[in-house]
Amino acid sequence: MSIMVAPLDGKARSLTCRGSLGGVPGGFWQAAWKRWCHRHALEQPYRHSIMTRQGSRFFAWRSNAARERVQIIRERLGMKQILIVSTSPRKGGNSDILADEFARGAREAGHTVEKVCLCDKAIQFCKGCLACQKTRRCVIDDDVQGIVEAMKRADAVVFATPVYYYAMSGQMKTLLDRTNPLFPAEYAFRDVYLLTSSADASESAADGVVNGLKGWIACFDKCRLKGVVRGTGVTAPGDIRRHASALEAAHALGLNA
Ligand SMILES: Cc1cc2nc3c(=O)[nH]c(=O)nc-3n(C[C@H](O)[C@H](O)[C@H](O)COP(=O)(O)O)c2cc1C
Repeated sequence: MSIMVAPLDGKARSLTCRGSLGGVPGGFWQAAWKRWCHRHALEQPYRHSIMTRQGSRFFAWRSNAARERVQIIRERLGMKQILIVSTSPRKGGNSDILADEFARGAREAGHTVEKVCLCDKAIQFCKGCLACQKTRRCVIDDDVQGIVEAMKRADAVVFATPVYYYAMSGQMKTLLDRTNPLFPAEYAFRDVYLLTSSADASESAADGVVNGLKGWIACFDKCRLKGVVRGTGVTAPGDIRRHASALEAAHALGLNA
């Protein structure tokens, strides 16, 4: 099998690949290509490349000029960029574990997943100045700038939050307020997911969170709430591990994202 490679210098060259990658389903090409690169000591220059197939020929795209093409190919293959925002102050807490389960499923499906934990970030409150509606940039220079940029590029955004006083966590609400620069912008995300954990054993404990997020989604009307997992009856970090159904539901959401 012949593989055409478009490396950083833009000069295409042909490599010969022993063995077959044929029959590998679309979503798994990238993984198969990475394994092939690794075996052939090509990992460094081609680590972030993407492989595509035209008939019996495989193409690996890496150059900056090919970036746009890579994006089109990603869309054709149904590969998404997914941003997970874990908002609990407890790393390894229940909602954070649901976030990891979602990530595991999404990676298995071939999507690219980036996870951000707000407990690692410095985040200030929105000042309400509305300067961002003209400049599309917040006047506050803190970690939110990077998160909002990542949200803007993502195809799907996942929020994981503990239920605090029958509402979303303050950290999550603070972040949602700070997404105001996206309101007049061309944001990519279309699907939004919500993962919650509550001490209360009733599913209705998360109703306030769902309603709060729906209020935000109503303002970002190109997106929709695509899935919710409510982890209930969990208090100490890790309690959710005893709730197989919640873990499975989060994993399945990621897998089908
Ligand atoms: C400030 C605070 C408020 C809380 N309010 C509620 C509540 O209203 N209803 C509820 O069921 N659990 C409530 N809890 C419990 C958490 O939702 C529960 O422990 C959850 O599993 C924590 O998620 P985490 O492990 O992801 O941080 C509250 C916890 C804290 C710290």
